[in-house]
Amino acid sequence: DLESKLQLVHRHIRPFPDFPKKGILFRDICPILKDPAALTAVIDLFEEHVRKNHQQVDLIVGIDARGFLFGPLLAQRLGVGFVLVRKKGKLPGTTVSVAYDLEYGKAEAEIQEDAVAPGQKILLIDDLLATGGTLHAACELMKKQQAEILGCLVVIELKELNGIDQLKSHAVFSLVQY
Ligand code: PRP
Ligand code: ADE
Ligand code: MG
Repeated sequence: DLESKLQLVHRHIRPFPDFPKKGILFRDICPILKDPAALTAVIDLFEEHVRKNHQQVDLIVGIDARGFLFGPLLAQRLGVGFVLVRKKGKLPGTTVSVAYDLEYGKAEAEIQEDAVAPGQKILLIDDLLATGGTLHAACELMKKQQAEILGCLVVIELKELNGIDQLKSHAVFSLVQY
């Protein structure tokens, strides 16, 4: 059931103090990927949420790099396509980019100009919401593409960093909260 799947996911997240910088408590999701049952539970829970809350989804948009671990699996489950938001300089062709800050650094997110058509209904996916800088940047890219943002999906939400404040109107669904 739902609760046992959530517990399974919870048991497969490891904390690492002071990584990658002093003062950061890093939540490591590698054990989820290593355990097929835990990974299936993540996708089951996301699928259940999406089917319950969204009538139509056109695309899942995943964020480089850890959003790529879950996004394609969910997209396949839902029978929709997957689009990549990458760190700058990795995508060929004409691209659109936006700079942002994250909990422990800076980066620039980029998408292919033709990745999403105006009006397409999209869900963003990443492993973790911290300050919200990353997902906010991805939302900005989606707005530039005139996509209809249905919401954001994350495995983990770090509540004390108030990342959802940055995401304003966009609904954020998380499986595990700290
Ligand atoms: C991590 C994490 C999220 C982001 C969250 O990505 O995977 O994408 O930070 O932080 P924020 O809410 O403060 O923006 P990171 O770019 O560090 O590494 P990755 O390439 O391994 O995903
Ligand atoms: N990305 C940003 N903050 C993080 C944290 N505390 N753990 C894992 N990934 C992160
Ligand atoms: Mg990331």
